[in-house]
Amino acid sequence: MKHYDKSLEELARPHVLGLIPYSPGRPMAEVERELGLDEVIKLASNENPLGPSPLAIQAIREALQGLHRYPHGHCHSLRQRLSRYLGVQPEELCFGNGSNELLELVTRAFLGPGDEAVMGDPAFVVYRSVCQAVGGEIREVPLKDYTHDLQGMLQAVTSRTKLVFLGNPNNPTGTCVSPTDLHAFVGGLPRNVILVVDEAYREYLPRDLQPDLLTYVRGGRYLLALRTFSKAYGLAGLRIGYGVGPAAMVKILNRVRQPFNVNALAQEAAKAALDDEAHLEETLRTTEAGRRSLQARLEEMGVSYTPSVANFILVDVGVEGKVVSNALVRKGVIVRSMEGYGLPTHIRITVGTAQENAHAIKALTEALDEERER
Ligand SMILES: Cc1ncc(COP(=O)(O)O)c(C=O)c1O
Repeated sequence: MKHYDKSLEELARPHVLGLIPYSPGRPMAEVERELGLDEVIKLASNENPLGPSPLAIQAIREALQGLHRYPHGHCHSLRQRLSRYLGVQPEELCFGNGSNELLELVTRAFLGPGDEAVMGDPAFVVYRSVCQAVGGEIREVPLKDYTHDLQGMLQAVTSRTKLVFLGNPNNPTGTCVSPTDLHAFVGGLPRNVILVVDEAYREYLPRDLQPDLLTYVRGGRYLLALRTFSKAYGLAGLRIGYGVGPAAMVKILNRVRQPFNVNALAQEAAKAALDDEAHLEETLRTTEAGRRSLQARLEEMGVSYTPSVANFILVDVGVEGKVVSNALVRKGVIVRSMEGYGLPTHIRITVGTAQENAHAIKALTEALDEERER
């Protein structure tokens, strides 16, 4: 038996030990096996219930033959395609292994011990963890009425603030700020603070609520708009997201990223997904209809929820969310309990297909009835 003077915990950097590992939604196959269920519905990770675009699947098939080669290190053809699509310069785009990686890169590149990052609370838990991992200080500003308190966030900015994170729409609340309020917010931030606007759910927003962030980038603001192919484009399993920011910022992000961070299949699938406008439209129609029907059913049930502009709904079940989400799993529906977000009586339900939503509502009704009877 070897003897060590120090444990691995003693060797690890102290702020790394403070990190809470991200807890992903449970895989369907695992729950099916464990509970002996034939079919389980996963409404826990805000994925696209329609699946990937058939064009993306075809593109992946064609790309399989080339898998002995490294992918393009700068996502060349996807970069060209997106730059035309968005009307930005190719040099203003950066790509990541999911937009999650870009959250990490921007933090690694700009935040260090002694620097501060401002973010809402609750907001996507990864903002907090990427900042903690580099030893940065976190300034969390409580949401107001489940929406970002932009005024409060401006007040939280100090001379040590390097980064501000704004999820718009915000996860887990499904709320957004108006383009007008966002404009005032951008104007109110000191110019040397980097604003990261996480637009993972942008596509679900009605057009009039989609802010024109690229104008700020073109105007030279230190702003990074993050988007993903994981949600409305149905490619969560491939891991690809992108950011739009000033070319000088992209250059810096490229210094801290791995050379081949976006795999070859993801690059091809993303281009094809962009081409498949019909699939995107159908996704948005399905989500809109599903969200309306879920919200209407929750209202009928007298269960309170936060009206959503995204593909998920934050529901206050009024009892311990964990208990309800466990009961739902036993009925074959995986949702996310929200105690990790400081919302112990909430669960978050992803909008699924009409059939999945109906199943979820039936299971929720039963679970809440059982809970009342206990
Ligand atoms: C607000 C928000 N940002 C970013 C992500 C990361 O998405 P991805 O890394 O799949 O692009 C998610 C995923 O759930 C999210 O909810």
